[in-house]
Amino acid sequence: MGKRNILVTGGLGFIGSHTVLCLDAAGYNPIIIDNLHNSRIEVLDALTSLLGYRPTYVQGDVNDTELLQGLFDAHRPEAVIHFAAHKAVGESVENPLMYYHNNLVGLITLLDTMKLKGCSKMVFSSSCTVYGEPESVPVKESTPTRPAASPYGATKQMAEVILKDNAWCEVQCLRYFNPVGAHPTAKIGELPLGVPNNLIPYLTQTVAGIRERLTVYGGDYPTADGTCIRDYIHVMDLAEAHVAAIDRLFSTSKQLDVLPGDPSAGVFEVFNIGTGVGYSVLEVIQAFEAATGKKVNYTVGDRRPGDVVAVWADTDKVNNVLGWSAKRDLTTMMKDAWHWQENC
Ligand code: WQD
Repeated sequence: MGKRNILVTGGLGFIGSHTVLCLDAAGYNPIIIDNLHNSRIEVLDALTSLLGYRPTYVQGDVNDTELLQGLFDAHRPEAVIHFAAHKAVGESVENPLMYYHNNLVGLITLLDTMKLKGCSKMVFSSSCTVYGEPESVPVKESTPTRPAASPYGATKQMAEVILKDNAWCEVQCLRYFNPVGAHPTAKIGELPLGVPNNLIPYLTQTVAGIRERLTVYGGDYPTADGTCIRDYIHVMDLAEAHVAAIDRLFSTSKQLDVLPGDPSAGVFEVFNIGTGVGYSVLEVIQAFEAATGKKVNYTVGDRRPGDVVAVWADTDKVNNVLGWSAKRDLTTMMKDAWHWQENC
């Protein structure tokens, strides 16, 4: 039997590109669509170098119905991994309509095409931001979601509802925590497009002399050292979790969680994709300095609006049901992040 074609929307992005490599390694054939809004065509060259062949790539937008239908006719994907979305929390506050249009209308257009073309399997890129400020940590998949702190988080919450309500679609919904690091070859990583919003790219650009100083947003939070806590996960671990989810969608042996109620309801499974360990901002800085021998020039400044104090994953369900767990530690994340910064 030939390889299964898997459509990877946003496949030239940070997580998408790493997932393309892992799909190939697992015997799947990745088909990439990307509009290059948050990536560069050079990523395709890097993937070609790493794969030993040029993966199928279509430049375009998931909002383009005609392009999508043509792609499905040409490549007949058996499943979709949907990464393509805007994901900057701050930007979503400044331009909510762009986020609702791109993230939700894009998803709906994709679902319309999948249904029309008879493709019913999706791995969806969700986020721990759906938990808002959790009442307790670590968060389980059953932890109630709270009002999102940004339009970005709201689009992820709404997308999950849309997917749950489309019972014809079998969905593996992956709630990411904080993706960091890069491929060990440093040929792909988190592209620095503009001033970084996220901690690690800002930190590595500061050490590289591109930024003058890192500001730690808040030192007076109710945590051990006063700085926020997050569950940082290596992007390679995250990419491997997507392959585990795709495998599960094609496994006939495992009983997928059918939604409660109507037995004909679809499959909608949620997994926290984190390491299960939370680190504060200061602990991350210390880990980076220990891992690389480089000094981070930082100052502790005001809190950033919208930040939650602490969130990290309970990973029991993903460990036991998906059979996946993160393998790379914070030191490896910091080393690979710095290796990428030195080479990008
Ligand atoms: C982490 C910590 C900041 C920058 C991200 C994505 C979101 C979602 C979850 C996928 C916070 C602090 C940051 C800086 C700092 N990912 N910080 N100085 O906000 O947890 O959310 O991961 O869906 O899309 O945005 O990540 O890296 O921005 O912040 O002190 O210059 O680092 O306050 O405590 P965040 P982040």
